[in-house]
Amino acid sequence: MMGEPRQKTILVTGCSSGIGAYCARALKSEGWQVIASARTKDHISELNADGIEAFRLDYADTASITDFHEQAMAATGGRCDALFNNGGYGQVGAIEDLPVAALRAQFEANFFGYHELTRKVIPVMRAQGHGRIVQCSSILGLVPMRFRGAYNASKHALEGLSVTLAMELEGSGIHVSLIEPGAIVSRFRANALKHFHRNIDIGNSVHRQDYQDQLHRLEKQEQSNSGKLGPEAVHKVLRHALTASRPRYHYAVTREARLGVLARRLLPARLFYPWLARQV
Ligand SMILES: NC(=O)c1ccc[n+]([C@@H]2O[C@H](COP(=O)([O-])OP(=O)(O)OC[C@H]3O[C@@H](n4cnc5c(N)ncnc54)[C@H](OP(=O)(O)O)[C@@H]3O)[C@@H](O)[C@H]2O)c1
Repeated sequence: MMGEPRQKTILVTGCSSGIGAYCARALKSEGWQVIASARTKDHISELNADGIEAFRLDYADTASITDFHEQAMAATGGRCDALFNNGGYGQVGAIEDLPVAALRAQFEANFFGYHELTRKVIPVMRAQGHGRIVQCSSILGLVPMRFRGAYNASKHALEGLSVTLAMELEGSGIHVSLIEPGAIVSRFRANALKHFHRNIDIGNSVHRQDYQDQLHRLEKQEQSNSGKLGPEAVHKVLRHALTASRPRYHYAVTREARLGVLARRLLPARLFYPWLARQV
């Protein structure tokens, strides 16, 4: 006798706002068992109020990653069909102004934490014979921009790690995809502004004039969503990465992101980098 198809399970990180908050709810409404993560009790309660199981995870805190994974496996009966590593933030500041601690913190959140959680789910997926790992990268993981060196580096590292992982998992039934969004409506710029003020000596930098442009960009974009796509644009490609029989390695989201990928492919570096350097 044929039973009901089993509910698929997915772990989604960084669900307090933006892309994660949207995708967790959208996936739940599509029938997934979503195990979400956030960093505060209030955000966990908000997710619970919408019927989503949620536990604390901070990528910078190894114990929280272990606890999250254990709680998630208890909630799913030890199954994990998919992982969406999504949580993270942007650290603005010129490379020469960037304290090593701020760079390390950027990598803890955007890179090492992803690796730690991914290593925990791979054995589960190998035992099942299938799985989808989707990494939220950025167009800045492929095309760097000035004054985002820490973030560029963390996402470039994620690209390298994840493509390598995809090749190593070839034939295992586990697929790895990277999503590379351009500007998406979320709390990303508001949060980046906080890290910028916290870690960079803006007023005493040789780049203080350029920093005014960065402050203006972050403040303006925080106030206005014009020209930006909503998180549903990321959810659309996430769904493809999770369900297509042949998911893609890369999903650039937004017209600007796709143009960036194309320009990098077509233009020689001596034209591309000086052009990039003129962008704010
Ligand atoms: N929005 C964009 O334009 C854009 C473009 C390209 C890529 N992305 C990527 O998209 C992902 C989601 O960002 P978003 O746009 O949705 O921004 P967001 O609204 O700021 O959401 C970021 C989420 O990540 C969480 N987070 C931050 N640091 C974390 C850590 N150490 N451990 C675990 N979670 C952490 C945040 O939690 P708290 O609330 O606790 O801080 C929040 O839930 C990020 O990886 C970002 O790099 C965004």
